[in-house]
Amino acid sequence: MLDKFEKRVLISVGCIIMVFIFSLLYAKATRQIDLPECLPYNKTYETPKVTQLDSNLYQVYAVAQMWQFQPAEIYIPVGSTVDFYVTSKDVVHGFNIYEKNVNMMAVYGNINKTTVKFEKPGVYKITCHEYCGIAHQNMQAEVIVNYPDAK
Ligand code: CUA
Repeated sequence: MLDKFEKRVLISVGCIIMVFIFSLLYAKATRQIDLPECLPYNKTYETPKVTQLDSNLYQVYAVAQMWQFQPAEIYIPVGSTVDFYVTSKDVVHGFNIYEKNVNMMAVYGNINKTTVKFEKPGVYKITCHEYCGIAHQNMQAEVIVNYPDAK
């Protein structure tokens, strides 16, 4: 049998959890904050590649490994939408794209996905923001949007 006090604690905890879930959904719906998705793991994600799916839709398999990202340079035309599938071949790395509000983890045996639209030309740096060893600070890649030689 529940004590009156226990009941109150349970109800308050329930309310707090509801507030958390509500704020998460609110952030996703109104602020267009993308929640990274976790996908079922598959070895093919360990092969870095850039695939053009449509005229302005690209798919990137980004692989983090001590101490580099592959592909290191991603060339896309302006206005492209890119689906990033991120994984690691060894330890936990970070995957942060400047100016794009992307802050993900690259984890061995896991795939994290996010979608980013590049509306302005420029060079967007990708850096590892999770300490991963001696050359952590050198670990970076670039998304090159509308570079003159873009393929
Ligand atoms: Cu990879 Cu720090």
